[in-house]
Amino acid sequence: MGFSMKEYEVESAPDRLLADLKHGLAQPQKSIPPKWFYDEVGSKLFEEITRLPEYYPTEAERGILLNSADDIVARTSPNTLVELGAGISDKTTALIDAMHRLNGQLPWYVPFDISADAILDGSARLQGQYEGINIHGIAGDFDHHLGEIGGEGRRMIALLGGTIGNYPPAERRFLLETVAGTMKAGDSFLLGTDLVKDPARLVAAYDDSAGVTAEFNRNVIQVIATTLDLPLSTDDFEHKAVWNAVEEWIEIYLVARRALRFDVDGMDVSIAEGEHILTEISAKFTMDRLRSNLAEAGLALVDSWTDGDFTVSLSTRAELAG
Ligand code: SAH
Ligand code: TRP
Repeated sequence: MGFSMKEYEVESAPDRLLADLKHGLAQPQKSIPPKWFYDEVGSKLFEEITRLPEYYPTEAERGILLNSADDIVARTSPNTLVELGAGISDKTTALIDAMHRLNGQLPWYVPFDISADAILDGSARLQGQYEGINIHGIAGDFDHHLGEIGGEGRRMIALLGGTIGNYPPAERRFLLETVAGTMKAGDSFLLGTDLVKDPARLVAAYDDSAGVTAEFNRNVIQVIATTLDLPLSTDDFEHKAVWNAVEEWIEIYLVARRALRFDVDGMDVSIAEGEHILTEISAKFTMDRLRSNLAEAGLALVDSWTDGDFTVSLSTRAELAG
């Protein structure tokens, strides 16, 4: 009963950050993996992003879940909800309520996130809201610890918020295959994906007028400077969001305001004035792309729910489907 949490070494893991940085800054197109956005400050800034008027995906997905959660959970009757990249579990209540209505009891809830702070915040709120709910948090990196998700009974594994779109195609396929590989008969996978739409709306969602997304993006420089004791300042970079119409994804960059040169563990790094460092992509989907991404990973689409801007889809492991 109650709350427990397993913490893997992730955040403040300087050696992992160092390895990621040495790899990403050695490429012709320099990049920094987006998982490093989510320190305590970054997690709070992301929460602020979800409340921005321009950032429509959060409210779109919440609306779909509130309208359709009963229908969604009735398909596979889960009694455990595993949520990957749960953050503060803000929209999760729609699913917990629907499982409660369907089963007459609260589900087990397993929030998995790289940010232990986010899990602690979200779980404290849920425990206040649902008396007796069992929560088992996992603070880990789903690029390394997905094999550890466990969970009893019929599980629904959710990956919401369009987070899957932050993975480029090869990594996306690998993540989906890994999730599929953990699924047993009776388990289901609930995926939130943002849809291709008017580029002006998309760009505004990643470059808001209040500058919160810019602050979120630049915070990764602070994470790097603090964790690795490097002479970098957030003031040296500008935020930029671009719609890539060929790939149909948003690209988020940090653009250097001046030439920079520093040493990363023996590696000499030069950044030219105006050079673009890629910090994130956010891929947008069509139903065709969604279906084929799932199929390539061995997942069979059961059904999907949309408001025209965002889609929530339910799938099962193809080799187990009846
Ligand atoms: N599901 C929430 C949060 C989405 S933001 C929502 O829909 O609003 C993405 C979340 O995934 C953040 O909480 C971040 O901390 C987490 N995350 C990002 N990369 C991760 C990784 N590699 N492993 C585990 N969690 C990760
Ligand atoms: N999963 C979110 C998305 O792609 C993450 C996100 C929102 C994000 N805004 C951002 C990542 C700005 C980097 C920069 O919509």
